[in-house]
Amino acid sequence: MPLVTTKEMFKKAYEGGYAIGAFNVNNMEIIQGITEAAKEENAPLILQVSSGARKYANHTYLVKLVEAAIQETNLPICLHLDHGDTFELCKSCVDGGFTSVMIDGSHHPFEENIKLTKQVVEYAHDKGVVVEAELGRLAGIEDAVNVNDKDAAFTKPEEVEEFVSKTGVDSLAIAIGTSHGAYKFKGEARLRFDILEEVQKKLPGFPIVLHGASSVIPEFVDMINQFGGQMPGAKGVPEDMLRKAASMAVCKINIDSDLRLAMTGTIRKYFAENPSHFDPRQYLGPARNAIKGLVKHKLVDVLGCNGKA
Ligand code: G3H
Ligand code: 13P
Ligand code: ZN
Repeated sequence: MPLVTTKEMFKKAYEGGYAIGAFNVNNMEIIQGITEAAKEENAPLILQVSSGARKYANHTYLVKLVEAAIQETNLPICLHLDHGDTFELCKSCVDGGFTSVMIDGSHHPFEENIKLTKQVVEYAHDKGVVVEAELGRLAGIEDAVNVNDKDAAFTKPEEVEEFVSKTGVDSLAIAIGTSHGAYKFKGEARLRFDILEEVQKKLPGFPIVLHGASSVIPEFVDMINQFGGQMPGAKGVPEDMLRKAASMAVCKINIDSDLRLAMTGTIRKYFAENPSHFDPRQYLGPARNAIKGLVKHKLVDVLGCNGKA
C-alpha cells in the first residue's frame, strides 16, 4: 500500500466520532514503536515530521523509514509536515513524497495567513497532497504570543469560514487552550469547547486539528523525577477532554511530548538500574517498547481509532 492522504481517514473519523493520532517521528525506534502499536490495533496513522526532525534525521531517511513501516504493517499511513513555516519548506516536502503538509501562518496577520496558505494549497493540490493550516495561536513554540492578551491567541470562530473558503485548505488547526510541550496549565486544565462548538457550527463536516494534545502522562513524569530528572509541575491535557474533542469535529490529535517523556523516562530508569551498560540496543529497545505501549493506549482508550484501518 502506498502512503495515503488524510482525506478518507478524516471523513470516516468525523462520521464515526473518533480521531486519528498524529505522532511526531524523529528516528527509527519512534517510528517502529508507533507503527507496531498501530498494526496490533489495526489503526490508521499520521506520522508527522517537524522541520527540526527533518534537520535531525534527514528527509530521505525519514521517508524511507516510513515506507519500511508501511511495508511491515500494510496500514494506511499519511506522512505529514508538522508546522511548515514557509512555502519553500512545504514545496520541498510535497516534492519529496509527503502526502500532507501543514503551513503554519498563524503568526501572520489574517490576510497574510490566507495568502500564504492559498499559495501552498494551490501547489500541493496540484500534486495530490492535502494541506492543514492554523488560525489562532498556541503558546509554546509561537514565542510572540502576547500573554497579557490571552484571548487574542484563541481562534476567532467568525474568521474560519472566510479562511477556509478563500484558501481551499483541507483541515484547520485551532487554538482552544492547548499548548506545546510538557507545561500546559499552571492551575486547572481548561479548554474552550465553546470555541470548538462554534467552529463546528460554522464549518459542518470540516476536519479540525488539535495541536498540543499530549496528556503529559504522570507515570512517565514520575519516572523522570524518580531517576534523576527534574520536571516538577509538568501538566498536560486530561484524556477526558481529548475524548470529548474526538467525539466532536476534531479529527487529528497531535502527540509529541508524551512520546518524548516515555522514551526519556524509560532510558533514565534503565541507566539508573544498569549503570554499567553501554549498548544502545539495551536502552533503545525498552524505550521503543514504552512508545508502543503508550501509543496502544492512545489509539484504544483516547482516540478510538483502533480497528478503523
Ligand atoms: O509542535 C511541535 C512538535 O512537538 C515538534 O517539535 O520542532 O522540537 O521537533 P520540534
Ligand atoms: P505536544 O507537545 O502536546 O505533544 O503537541 C505536539 C504537537 O502539537 C505537534 O505539532
Ligand atoms: Zn503543533
